[in-house]
Amino acid sequence: MSDDQSVVRFENVGLRYGLGPEVLQDISFTLAPGSFQFLIGESGAGKSSLLKLLYLAHRPTRGVMSLFGRDVASLRRSELPALRRRIGIVFQDFRLLPHLSTFDNVALPLRVAGVRESEIKRHVEELLAWVSLEDHMEARPPTLSGGQQQRVAIARAVIARPKLLYADEPTGNVDDRISSRLLHLFDELNKLGTTIVIATHNDAMVREANRPCLRLRNGRLVRLGPGLVELDDTDTAGEEDRQQVAAEVRNLAAAAKGPRF
Ligand SMILES: Nc1ncnc2c1ncn2[C@@H]1O[C@H](COP(=O)(O)OP(=O)(O)OP(=O)(O)O)[C@@H](O)[C@H]1O
Ligand SMILES: [Mg+2]
Repeated sequence: MSDDQSVVRFENVGLRYGLGPEVLQDISFTLAPGSFQFLIGESGAGKSSLLKLLYLAHRPTRGVMSLFGRDVASLRRSELPALRRRIGIVFQDFRLLPHLSTFDNVALPLRVAGVRESEIKRHVEELLAWVSLEDHMEARPPTLSGGQQQRVAIARAVIARPKLLYADEPTGNVDDRISSRLLHLFDELNKLGTTIVIATHNDAMVREANRPCLRLRNGRLVRLGPGLVELDDTDTAGEEDRQQVAAEVRNLAAAAKGPRF
């Protein structure tokens, strides 16, 4: 596939906040349409910062980034809302609207898209049942637990079947059973053609999903193959394990699907 067909393309992208140091350096990768990546790395590695670039909350301070084939440096402010409507986002801090009910928070993207209320009711109720929130449809977010709010945020992000879905630590507040269920939901959306990037510390979910990983280390990107959670430099795993991981990474880097360097 040529780079022009990528949903996302980064070439030597760097990001700094204000006059601070670069928190992302020389980031180059592409996301093929319909791909599913995890974004992993320790706290402070730059996962949320990379997602902020991906959903156009910030622009790169250097390098080239394109989204849906458009160079983001050439985008006018007035073009951003239409592009953002093609993206579903689960924020690390949820960002639900506190004065709206669970139902209305989730319905929002469909209302913006002008979908009929009868359709909205059907879709929202079905999705809220899937994430086990059918008994909380009228509740306001501040009265929900962290894990319940997280599921509302996920439902809102996926309800309109976005072309691109970014989720920042979407299972940080839920138990293993719900985490598995949410992974299933992301899988189903991916089967319908949505390109997905999930930033997470949840190693068990990464292994279960068996998908490629982008790993950030100190603001730089390392690519890992399906289901592979890289061994930390600081852990006590043997050299044999390390070599096996390195060989697997090399093999998978040669595979055509997923991001390329
Ligand atoms: N608004 C900001 N202004 C200045 N520096 C920032 C800002 N946001 C993040 N940073 C810095 O950028 C670096 C990467 O932070 P980021 O939030 O992207 O990490 P992360 O990988 O998402 O971490 P976590 O797993 O804890 O969510 C950190 O050094 C952080 O201090
Ligand atoms: Mg983060």
